[in-house]
Amino acid sequence: MRNSEVAISIQNLSKYYGKFQALKEISFDIMRGSFFGFLGPNGAGKTTTINTVTGLSNYQEGKVRIFGYDVTSEYVRSRPLVGLCAQEFNFDPFLPLHRMLTYQAGYFGLPQKLAEKRADELLDRFQLTEKRNMKYRTLSGGMKKRLLLCRALIHDPEILILDEPTAGCDLELRYHIWDYLRQLNKEGKTIFLTTHYMEEAERLCERIGIIHEGHIVKIGDKKDVLKDQTLEDVFLELTNGK
Ligand SMILES: Nc1ncnc2c1ncn2[C@@H]1O[C@H](COP(=O)(O)OP(=O)(O)OP(=O)(O)O)[C@@H](O)[C@H]1O
Ligand SMILES: [Mg+2]
Repeated sequence: MRNSEVAISIQNLSKYYGKFQALKEISFDIMRGSFFGFLGPNGAGKTTTINTVTGLSNYQEGKVRIFGYDVTSEYVRSRPLVGLCAQEFNFDPFLPLHRMLTYQAGYFGLPQKLAEKRADELLDRFQLTEKRNMKYRTLSGGMKKRLLLCRALIHDPEILILDEPTAGCDLELRYHIWDYLRQLNKEGKTIFLTTHYMEEAERLCERIGIIHEGHIVKIGDKKDVLKDQTLEDVFLELTNGK
């Protein structure tokens, strides 16, 4: 890994779907070890941004780097540095949980023994051990969310990217997930979280970026961002309640 203090660097990124411009020259850096929140209403461009960073989507203009590695020309180096917890469940329906995790580890070249050990540890950490031989469709919604986190972490990535990790979770599970995320950040993981819950960003993140209609409208320390009255109209579109 390059000795970069910037974990994710996005410069003048523009993304079009056909003629529609979903990202409009967005730029920001996320520092190593930080907890960054990306807030924006539905359709603002959060998932699109994540997809470009993780190599799931192409883009037309700009530069995206992970610890200095270009996500397009150096994707072999950049991809293993990131674990993605996607917005939607995209699991293989036929694999039991433990096998699903070791299978995922295979994409990153983990030796079988190590993959099995990490799968055991993660299932334990997220209280899914008793489900280890079940298939994912037998899990409750909250368990599926936790499984997404296990899978994102299986190769012990430096950066964790979370696309609305607590959407649809009840309060208790949301608080559990927040605790896990704080702990992971304390252990040194850089976290990039998208949400439209203002409270989630306020409680977890140090820095916050606000995206609206493909533009970054504000970025900075959470206190400065969340008290900016010029953003009231955007905040009204976000979820304030618990
Ligand atoms: N594959 C696609 N083809 C065409 N348009 C797309 C595609 N994916 C996203 N879009 C459009 O790009 C815009 C940004 O979508 P995106 O999924 O990035 O929003 P988001 O901020 O993640 O929203 P949400 O909070 O609802 O998840 C939306 O107008 C959406 O309709
Ligand atoms: Mg999204």
